[in-house]
Amino acid sequence: MSPAVRPPGPAPIIIIFCSYNYIISYYVLTKHAILKIVLINLYLMKILVTYLSKTGNTKKIAEAIYGEIDCEKEIKQIKEVYNIDSYDFIFVGSPIHAHGVNGQVKKFLISKCKGKKIAVFITHATPEEYSEEIKEATKEVAKEADLVGLFACQGELAFGIKTFMKLLIGTKLRKYAKGDNSQRQPDEERVEKARIFAREIMKKISS
Ligand SMILES: Cc1cc2nc3c(=O)[nH]c(=O)nc-3n(C[C@H](O)[C@H](O)[C@H](O)COP(=O)(O)O)c2cc1C
Repeated sequence: MSPAVRPPGPAPIIIIFCSYNYIISYYVLTKHAILKIVLINLYLMKILVTYLSKTGNTKKIAEAIYGEIDCEKEIKQIKEVYNIDSYDFIFVGSPIHAHGVNGQVKKFLISKCKGKKIAVFITHATPEEYSEEIKEATKEVAKEADLVGLFACQGELAFGIKTFMKLLIGTKLRKYAKGDNSQRQPDEERVEKARIFAREIMKKISS
């Protein structure tokens, strides 16, 4: 019986996108009926979500982001992170304290994230429409890192702090506390925005 002969013509190329992290390409070389399978970019990333959170707002966002990550992942408080070498990408989260990221997070960003691919997420009592300065200050702190994205959203100002601020008669802080509208933030709408942010970042870093 004569062997089956494939008609002449270009070799078919099938590319299957399995997930963000896998691109499997099958090259079927036909001339001599050799089947060659090449796996391109079968690259499993390891991602860390790390954060600092005093009253739970930033933690809520961290968990939402973590839930959207579709590869090997870890979530840790920033004080538990000693070495970041084994991670391909890091989401770093911080509350805003005195117009900038928390001091511990700042130290982490400056000393550990130089040249590292990261995304930063912050929560602050200031409404988002007035958070431009806060975002700029955050970018400045992360300037030595390879910052792929920044997410910012409102987070409830703790009751104790707010009460204390209101006692500071004649100060800007008192005025600020009186005008505060951050109660119950981040709400589900903001958490959903954080999930969308995480998915966008995942797309960016795996393409
Ligand atoms: C000491 C302190 C300072 C703060 N300073 C600011 C500030 O400068 N600007 C702001 O928008 N929010 C400020 N906030 C509010 C927090 O950033 C906000 O409530 C945040 O969501 C808290 O996050 P956490 O629950 O993860 O700790 C401050 C809160 C505290 C406790």
